[in-house]
Amino acid sequence: MEKRFGQTAITFGVFDLLHFGHFELFRKIREIVGPEGKVYVMLQIDEMIEKFKPGCKRVYDFPTRQKMIETLRTVDKAIPYDIVGIDAVKNIDFDILVVGPEHTNERFQRLFRWCAENGKEVVALPRTEGISTTRLKEIIQDL
Ligand code: CTP
Repeated sequence: MEKRFGQTAITFGVFDLLHFGHFELFRKIREIVGPEGKVYVMLQIDEMIEKFKPGCKRVYDFPTRQKMIETLRTVDKAIPYDIVGIDAVKNIDFDILVVGPEHTNERFQRLFRWCAENGKEVVALPRTEGISTTRLKEIIQDL
């Protein structure tokens, strides 16, 4: 991935139970924008998580998830959003939307089109193998 030093990147997620895969994602984004760039994490509000991940039990509430993410050196700010889409990003001054390989649904497709029309770059990064919040919960249950 080419560097985009000084630019602002955003990425979407729930980021409950922060784990190595999340830290790697933020580290890779920071590598792209450099120390002078900005990394904004779009963090889904509690009310919408159950709606989009049925049966998913959250461990940390929004204020806690926000505080945890904002303690990371790789991240500048965690910003609340309800639903992935243009409304969530239209008031944010950013250059790059970073997504994971699972971000393929119609909402993301619409957002990708909007990014193309509005001069924003979309960068897809691979996931870190072998870890996820779901997997972490399973491992802990088995301890
Ligand atoms: N991510 C990653 N590597 C992982 C896990 C997540 O790069 N091992 C990235 C995803 O691609 C996404 C972001 O982290 O861009 C947020 O993912 P999230 O759904 O919060 O994390 P998961 O661990 O995948 O959670 P779950 O198991 O609940 O789906």
